[in-house]
Amino acid sequence: MAETGAAQANIGVVGLAVMGSNLARNLASRAGNTVAVFNRSPERTRLLTTEHPEAGFVASETIEEFVASLQKPRTAIIMVQAGAGTDAVISRLTTLFEPGDIIVDGGNADFQDTIRREKEVRATGVNFVGAGISGGEEGALKGPSIMPGGSVEAYKTLGPILESIAAVVDGVPCVTHIGTDGAGHFVKMIHNGIEYADMQLIAEAYDLLRKVTGHSPAAIADVFTEWNEGDLESYLIEITAEVLRQVDAKTGLPFIDVVLDEAGSKGTGVWTVQNALDLGVPVGGIAEAVFARAVSSHPEQRVPVRAAITARPEIAVVGHTFQDDVRQALYASKVVAYAQGFDAIIAGAKKYGWTVDKGAIATIWRGGCIIRAQFLNRIVDAYANDPSIASLLADPYFAQAVADGESAWRRVVSTAALSGIPVPGFASALSYFDSLASERLPAALVQGQRDFFGAHTYKRVDMPGTFHTLWSGDRSEIETEGSSL
Ligand code: 6PG
Repeated sequence: MAETGAAQANIGVVGLAVMGSNLARNLASRAGNTVAVFNRSPERTRLLTTEHPEAGFVASETIEEFVASLQKPRTAIIMVQAGAGTDAVISRLTTLFEPGDIIVDGGNADFQDTIRREKEVRATGVNFVGAGISGGEEGALKGPSIMPGGSVEAYKTLGPILESIAAVVDGVPCVTHIGTDGAGHFVKMIHNGIEYADMQLIAEAYDLLRKVTGHSPAAIADVFTEWNEGDLESYLIEITAEVLRQVDAKTGLPFIDVVLDEAGSKGTGVWTVQNALDLGVPVGGIAEAVFARAVSSHPEQRVPVRAAITARPEIAVVGHTFQDDVRQALYASKVVAYAQGFDAIIAGAKKYGWTVDKGAIATIWRGGCIIRAQFLNRIVDAYANDPSIASLLADPYFAQAVADGESAWRRVVSTAALSGIPVPGFASALSYFDSLASERLPAALVQGQRDFFGAHTYKRVDMPGTFHTLWSGDRSEIETEGSSL
């Protein structure tokens, strides 16, 4: 352990649970960094410094000592539980830091909290950066994908430090300044929403292969390994094969068969959907993934409903191309999930006044994070070709990819429906695509109904203006003031 007292560290970490410890070790392993560490309970700090003498940590047992051990501008990354714990550390550091110093919140904070905290801390002259960090424990240690918000000024000091610890793909570190105040945590939230959708789609693909083709988990693991060589290449596909290949040591059964089928969540998926609802952005793929976890977690409903059903459909007979159909349906649905996620980023940036570079976000998601995938390069290309493209589904590559898989996608969704296999992710993605692709939508009827019962007015296809039909009168049409709401 290095000597304490003197201001010798260029970066500090507060909160030394697994993510914090790993991030501190990652920082310490990069040339040029000297890392100060502090944890509320000093035992944890002692454990970390004893177990990792090679890191040369500058350890402190009080927050005052920790602050004194940092070179100016002082930079500290907080890795504590989101919520009240984070607020407590921020308020303590703010009183000890000086103008120009930087507090970084690296937890999974709600971006609205980050906006509030940034404003409060900025008033003291200290910089506050909310940074989304993805990649789990291993990513924190070996190279995560980092999504920092906060001021441009703070990023000048912080950027090189974060670049030194981020994952690197094709020589490019997986970190970029996302935008001011809460932009980083907003984009991390959307990352997690896409993560939910991606995981749900993969889970549906597994379920279909298991129930329709009757393959064993080990055989399906081989299918995923094969898929990982193509367009679907991604971390989540790779780990899916690992999970499916696992055998339970206690029973000798496939691991997947001994795991209770009730999915948990920590809340970032729910936040994504709540915010998308507020922004009016359809993120059905993400919402269905959140709801699928919720449905799974209600055994008190699943059991009685199952008991009330007398018969389930037979599994539909499928052709020999079914396995490849599922692959294509998975790819097309995944394109939809990412298109929806990026739509939410665009809408959020507009609402909160952030200038975001969509291509740069796709670039830093290529490595380190949970949704890292080959596929992200296609999104980088799409935004490079047309930065203001209306939807990723309008990009020539993605439009063609979806068109190529469309028949397979429809066969898979209809097979699932006929067989009684739930595919909320695949089906909602296909309906979303069909909604965008349809020339006319039944929204016209909804407008008619709204006008009938609430005089909410409507617009016509053949002339400008806002209209109302006198439904309870002579049913003639009148032109009204204002817009159709
Ligand atoms: C990451 C992960 C990480 C985490 C989430 C999701 O990017 O490293 O998204 O943040 O695993 O907490 O967890 P839930 O599935 O429990 O919501």
